Amino acid sequence: MTHAFAPGKIILFGEHAVVYGRPALAVPVTQIHADVEVTASRDAQTWIHAPDVNLHAELNTLPSDHPIASVLHNFFFAFGISPIPSLDISITSTIPVASGLGSGAAVTVALFRALSSFFFLDLTNEQINQQAYEIEKLHHGTPSGIDNTVVTYARPVYFIKGQPIETFKVGAPFTLVIADTGISAPTKEAVGDVRMLWEADKAKWEKVFDEIGEIVRKAKEIIENGEWKSLGALMDANHSLLQQLTVSSPELDSLVESARRSGASGAKLSGGGRGGNMIALVEKERAAQVSEALLSAGAKRTIITEVA
Ligand code: PMV
Repeated sequence: MTHAFAPGKIILFGEHAVVYGRPALAVPVTQIHADVEVTASRDAQTWIHAPDVNLHAELNTLPSDHPIASVLHNFFFAFGISPIPSLDISITSTIPVASGLGSGAAVTVALFRALSSFFFLDLTNEQINQQAYEIEKLHHGTPSGIDNTVVTYARPVYFIKGQPIETFKVGAPFTLVIADTGISAPTKEAVGDVRMLWEADKAKWEKVFDEIGEIVRKAKEIIENGEWKSLGALMDANHSLLQQLTVSSPELDSLVESARRSGASGAKLSGGGRGGNMIALVEKERAAQVSEALLSAGAKRTIITEVA
């Protein structure tokens, strides 16, 4: 039997503009994770058990583009494993789905890792990241690759599409409250809508992407220098640029406002937007108060996490 896990993630700055070559900052969220166990099956079939999504199925009964089946087929094909062996694969995850916390990437990475150990392949992070990116492309159209990268390496990442992975140091730990609107919003649609805006007026949106890129570079410097208190204003500025890109929503805006009112130093949506999660930067002592305010303002759940 082999077991592997992968953490959730949150984008701190730079979503959407990252698809257009600007940098973005993302960090793992280790309180939430996907876990996979692989054992040899006794009945000459490959069974997948994923109780969180109510899935108990034999691999061959799933369509080949099913998110989990596609990971397995990709793995067997990429590493020349044929015929398909008999396995029992259990997948559990505490990462909310379709909410910008990296649940899809985490399940993919944990699956690749557990299968890699089961077949004694000893895949490197680089290989796992590459395969996970292929899967992201199947399901998300034109992903930047930031999700699979942060989840695979489980470290803070300063990400530029197509460039070698660069991690960054957190000079002094800081606290975030992550709040979920409870609205599941497909990243692919938000990314597609931004592309339509961009196609219609490239000069205008390239300028917005440049402004976001500038915020990301400043944020990285501030985090590395341990001066996180000044990050709040950058979060607010990034959120308003995301509003211009039409990827916020009334629910996200209302949580962002309520975080600011209840004492957060800054707040923004995180990830694809339209639903999913927002993040608020808080003094550690104020985290519970801001979290309460967000729940009263309609958040379905909150996570308090320290970026260290
Ligand atoms: O919704 P998430 O957290 O998976 O993030 C998507 C981030 C985008 O920049 C909107 C898309 C991408 O591929 O980078």
